[in-house]
Amino acid sequence: MGKRFMLFFLATILIVNANVLQKLPGLNIDLVGTTVSGISSGAYMSGQIHIALSSFIKGSAIVAGGPVGCTRGYLIYATTECMSNPQDLNIKSVDESIDKLNKDQKIDDVSNLKGAKSYIFAGLKDTTVLPLNGVHLQDQLTKLGVQLKTVYDIPAEHAYITNGFGNVCDFKGSPYINNCSYNQAYESLNYLYNGKLKAGTKAVDSNLFEFNQQNYFSSFMTSLYSSGYVYIPTNCADGKKKCRLHINFHGCKQSVEVLGTNYIKMIGINDVAEANDIVVLYPQTTKSPVFPFNPEGCWDWWGYTEWNSMLAPTGYYNFNSAGLNFLSKEALQIKSVWQMAQDLASVKKASEKLEQE
Ligand SMILES: *[C@@H]1O[C@H](CO)[C@@H](O)[C@H](O)[C@H]1NC(C)=O
Repeated sequence: MGKRFMLFFLATILIVNANVLQKLPGLNIDLVGTTVSGISSGAYMSGQIHIALSSFIKGSAIVAGGPVGCTRGYLIYATTECMSNPQDLNIKSVDESIDKLNKDQKIDDVSNLKGAKSYIFAGLKDTTVLPLNGVHLQDQLTKLGVQLKTVYDIPAEHAYITNGFGNVCDFKGSPYINNCSYNQAYESLNYLYNGKLKAGTKAVDSNLFEFNQQNYFSSFMTSLYSSGYVYIPTNCADGKKKCRLHINFHGCKQSVEVLGTNYIKMIGINDVAEANDIVVLYPQTTKSPVFPFNPEGCWDWWGYTEWNSMLAPTGYYNFNSAGLNFLSKEALQIKSVWQMAQDLASVKKASEKLEQE
């Protein structure tokens, strides 16, 4: 290796490390009232974690998703009934799955969902997760007593929607962020926070931190990336002010492994967060070609993190259910993400500065 290259190489490593928090800071956050959001597989994950932890999570913004438990642990339903063929969905079987999780106390009691809020967005021109999936979600959450704002009239393809960044509104493709002249980040969070959010502030670049996500999983089955990200508004950094927590879940092919920090910086949530003292956690998945079967780095909404999903006749394509555990409080990804949330909200560590190495 040439000397100049070596120097460059070392300098790069140092710079990268300088921005990585080895530990999440303990901030002044009340976890009751946490909100979540996500697109596509992240939309499904948002619904899942909302229902699993409804005693803490009081709002979800679900963009291009469908009903919680839609797949019932079958990969085959992920691509059919829960994406391209929602007209075939066996709604009764989905309802029974949630009932069972509730009776077995694998999720927080669903009575916590009464009065919670969800924002549901289905793009008129979405050809990946057809809009009817959103309507099924609306029906499910209505039965559970959740208050809803639905947005079905924007001619959007499969994407997170912005007012000015990304591809044209009806384009389908990477980074799956489309400009439909609509500020989805603000509109959705403002609904979840009772219409009281301020608009118009810009995020501060240096308030975005990469953190070591490896502290939060012990098994490769979790399919999480080595790093996650957290946006800490200026007013929340010293732990004096009580702040709120929002967790956003990227879609498939949108993790930092694929897009760098583009998604995190451009969807607009950090702007809303800076203006309203909301800490935003961006957990990250990793791509995994076979074990587990997650080649696009999706969040787990069909059970790929369960060992059962390996017991498939054709190797990895699973024609049997992986079970329902991936929807529960004990699901690998939900447990990992909630541990991050708990660490961010551990006031006892509030005196610790943002430790950097
Ligand atoms: C976003 O879309 C609108 C409507 O098509 C267009 O007028 C505007 O210039 C676009 N913004 C950017 C930054 O591309």
